Amino acid sequence: MSDGRWRARPVTMQDVAAHAGVSSGTVSNVLADRDVVATETRERVLQSVAALGYRPNRVARSLLLRRTHMLGMVVPDLANPFFAELVRGVETAAQEQGHCVVVGSTENDEERESTFLRDLIDRGVDGALVSVAADGQRLTETVGDLPIVAVDRVPAGWPGASVVTDDREAMHLAVDHLVGLGHRRVGFVGHQPGIPSSRARSTACRDALVHHGLSLAFEAPGLFTLEAGRKCGAQLFRLPEEERPTAVVAANDLLAIGLLEAARDSAVRIPEDLSVVGYDDIQFAALTTPPLTTVAQPVRELGREATMLLLHAVDHVEASQDTVRLHPTLSVRQSTAAPGK
Ligand code: RIB
Repeated sequence: MSDGRWRARPVTMQDVAAHAGVSSGTVSNVLADRDVVATETRERVLQSVAALGYRPNRVARSLLLRRTHMLGMVVPDLANPFFAELVRGVETAAQEQGHCVVVGSTENDEERESTFLRDLIDRGVDGALVSVAADGQRLTETVGDLPIVAVDRVPAGWPGASVVTDDREAMHLAVDHLVGLGHRRVGFVGHQPGIPSSRARSTACRDALVHHGLSLAFEAPGLFTLEAGRKCGAQLFRLPEEERPTAVVAANDLLAIGLLEAARDSAVRIPEDLSVVGYDDIQFAALTTPPLTTVAQPVRELGREATMLLLHAVDHVEASQDTVRLHPTLSVRQSTAAPGK
């Protein structure tokens, strides 16, 4: 059928050329908006494009330009609201720049991370954003010369560009707030040596306490999950009251929320018996009982900044080694108060 209403195959540039009575090169010049085609001819070609419903073949264009305008993104746990929000920040920035994003969740598994990254490379993404599953050199070994920006979790010794929230500044915000309330026995929950962001926070929390002439009064390991928070809480509340800290900083909000639940199950009052500070400021932090005091990460800004840094790396041969540190803020709510209140 000649009007393009139905065809067994996609409409090609040659079909448009034949319909408009011009060469394929003229059609290509019109579609690329090159100012080398007479107005009347341009109009006729555009009318044929509309009449036939022609859509440029993206795969063919990709092969020609060696650009797919597709970015990859690898995160450890897409079910965690922090990462869902981070992906939204990336997608918004990428779409503004005419790119789509393919997202994969590794469940903190390095093997899954490597497999997904290799799949992204095979599918021809222009570059990728990675929040690593764990420390180690596998990221560098897996990606070869694919442009990569590490976002949020940066493996030790990472040579490329990265975008993170300043964990040291964040822990000072949390500790300064608690010390300012009068707390002198402060603990940390969620220490994970193999996770860069957790390790950075644990170290920064210790250093912030030392800055106040204090030391860590309690520490419990745990993943960034609700269940880990419940377990840390159970461990903490088994201690005799006189041995317990009067406040704890959690490595993320899910840990803090799990701890609140354990406190309720142990008849520990928050904040009267224990103050709790989280990290991330996910949307549920304001809805807990009591509402959670937490260090807010600029998650959308993390995503945007990382995307723009990656697109710069894709467009330019020299890869950037920039480390962008964004500032956290403290959201004070009702899970913290002076000790013994
Ligand atoms: O909640 C998940 C945590 O892991 C966040 O704090 C984020 O920084 C990531 O590292």
